[in-house]
Amino acid sequence: MTTAPGEAELLEAARSQPVPEHVAIIMDGNGRWATRRGLPRVAGHREGVKAARAIVRAADTLGLRYLTLYAFSTENWSRPLDEVSTLMNLLERSVHAELPALMARNARLRVLGRPHGVPAGVRRGIDHVVHETRNNTGLTVLMAFNYGGRDELLDAFRTLARQVQAGDLKADDISEKDVSGALYTADIPDPDLLIRTSGEMRISNFLLWQIAYTELVLTPTLWPDFGPGDLYRAVGEFQGRTRRFGKV
Ligand code: IPE
Ligand code: IPE
Ligand code: MG
Repeated sequence: MTTAPGEAELLEAARSQPVPEHVAIIMDGNGRWATRRGLPRVAGHREGVKAARAIVRAADTLGLRYLTLYAFSTENWSRPLDEVSTLMNLLERSVHAELPALMARNARLRVLGRPHGVPAGVRRGIDHVVHETRNNTGLTVLMAFNYGGRDELLDAFRTLARQVQAGDLKADDISEKDVSGALYTADIPDPDLLIRTSGEMRISNFLLWQIAYTELVLTPTLWPDFGPGDLYRAVGEFQGRTRRFGKV
């Protein structure tokens, strides 16, 4: 009788082939995870933080260069006030609690999103961890926080428009490289793989420009149940794909 491969086997299989450089994840399904257990939605977010911590560890073990985690979108402000404030506090506290582990792993934290609009205390807490880890050279964890793909493009277009206005750039010369360079992800390669949990089949305003040729893996697993083995399996699926980039 054969059994399903365990975490160690999935890791070994994923490491036997080139791993993607950049994996991005839409961490979805915390609310449903809690509701199914008769718990308040915020209990799902607390479990979601634990899952995120385990995935950062797994990404490091796997040898990824960049891991982008969608933690809070510009649209998420429209949720009930108590859920939003709990999420803010939870994110700030867990980022702070993660600092020693990030340092021990030589990992670096960066934030994608508009700083404006985030409560000052939360911003200070997160900025502190970004600052402390800035010289680390291992895995870069990119936390998409107060992030919107359209906002990011608007900010980029404004930056480029200002350069044109100042006479530093000709409108007809604007290239893909210029647009990429004006995004929050300016010096970061586009994601090779995008994972979304919870069974939803949509992008929800995430990395709109960057995912033009990203491979997608969609799984029904709810985020709090998504573990290292699931990441290794998704990477295995990615490794089995043929990326054609429009060619034959
Ligand atoms: C993802 O889980 C976490 C955030 C968006 C902050 P959700 O809170 O969206 O969970 P569901 O989709 O309602 O189950
Ligand atoms: C996307 O999930 C945002 C994050 C995971 C932070 P949502 O739950 O907000 O997306 P929709 O509402 O299902 O599109
Ligand atoms: Mg959701």
